[in-house]
Amino acid sequence: MLNQITNFEKSNQYRNKIHSLIPGGAHTYSKGDDQFPLLSPAAITKGEGVYVWDLDGNKYLDCSMGLTSVSLGHAYKPVIEAVRKELENGVNFQRPASIEMEMAEKFLELIPCHQMIKFSKNGSTATTAAMKLARAYTGRELVAFPGDHPFYSYDDWFIGKTACNKGVPSDYMNYTVTYNSMDLNSLEEMFQKYPGKIACVISEPEKTHNQPADYVQKLIDICHKHGALYVMDEMITGFKTDYPGSIKKLNVVPDLATWGKGIANGFSFCALTGKKEIMELGGINRPGEEKVFLISTTHGGETHAMSACMATMKEFKEKNVIAHNHSIGDLFISKVRDAIAKKGLSDYVSLSDSNWMVAFAFKNKDKAIDNGLRTLFMQEMIKRGVLFQGVFVPCFSHQAKDVDFFAEAVTESLDVFTMGLENGYGKYLIGEPTKPVFRKIL
Ligand SMILES: Cc1ncc(COP(=O)(O)O)c(C=O)c1O
Repeated sequence: MLNQITNFEKSNQYRNKIHSLIPGGAHTYSKGDDQFPLLSPAAITKGEGVYVWDLDGNKYLDCSMGLTSVSLGHAYKPVIEAVRKELENGVNFQRPASIEMEMAEKFLELIPCHQMIKFSKNGSTATTAAMKLARAYTGRELVAFPGDHPFYSYDDWFIGKTACNKGVPSDYMNYTVTYNSMDLNSLEEMFQKYPGKIACVISEPEKTHNQPADYVQKLIDICHKHGALYVMDEMITGFKTDYPGSIKKLNVVPDLATWGKGIANGFSFCALTGKKEIMELGGINRPGEEKVFLISTTHGGETHAMSACMATMKEFKEKNVIAHNHSIGDLFISKVRDAIAKKGLSDYVSLSDSNWMVAFAFKNKDKAIDNGLRTLFMQEMIKRGVLFQGVFVPCFSHQAKDVDFFAEAVTESLDVFTMGLENGYGKYLIGEPTKPVFRKIL
């Protein structure tokens, strides 16, 4: 039997105060209190490798690693050392830091089909810049994304199209259109509905379909047939599905690509890459032509974040991080599926096949997705020292023993899950089930 965490006293104090200081209590809604059961850490004080500690000193195995941004491990030494060294030279100057050139060359070496790059601090800045650039390049006003995909930016062009559209001018929403990611006919229909009007389609390459390479190539072909650009959002797939990402794995050529999360092991460094003829619209060497105000931000070229990215790239290249992460993912899938099967619950708890990011689904007796049961399972995993939020993202510091620990916690948590399945989750869940991030009413 695993040790059980019962003390959340300091977490509760933090929870009670933080919402009066920070709206939402966090800097992404995905980390918020409404995304976790009540019996959970409210905030993290430190991380090392694949472990994190909360305010009460409880230790947890980490599973989603900073919303998938920590690809090597928390406080990973070679990255920290590179950052420390860079900090000694200062972080921001009146003219660009000279390592911007090295950074650009090194990143672009990974993407032979793209010749230019702009840096940013957040993924949303990169995806929003891609929308602007596509509009400027094509002279068209609409942008498109698959309406069944979860997230592309916190900026208005995307958020305006979700249930949380308060604060976004209603007219603005007319400039974004959607299609169904599972159905390329719906993409074709969307283009036919708005002939000559759509500047680009942005999508995540490996989200909701079974034959990604073939599918993505067809998607690109349809975009090009209609004179639109295709933007591949590698925010999650980058440094996970392959190195540098799905652009290589699928062997396709998007016009633009957006990068972030795992590329700098949790440091704030993101990027927009693309074909020269499109990207150079954001340049200043076109005398007589109209200027496109692409990404322009004070902290975009912060030196230590670039060092973090370069040190991360070095590790990925020299240590074959992708092979390690995928083997941990494969082991995880087989051991956890085994644990679920042994309890006879395979119809109710299932795992995706993707060894680079394993997603769980929880169902009730009617075989319908059940958020209450999911939250109950989270509560039981957290109690047993696993900071679980529905996904497992392997990183370079995860080892086979961590998979064993996770599987043991699953075995024990499933006993409570079974009771919840039989008698209703409400009998065993303390507090409320988690709520969707994108909801109209709080
Ligand atoms: C696919 C995708 N694109 C873009 C973003 C936005 O990135 P950021 O949170 O760094 O602004 C996210 C963030 O979760 C994402 O998952």
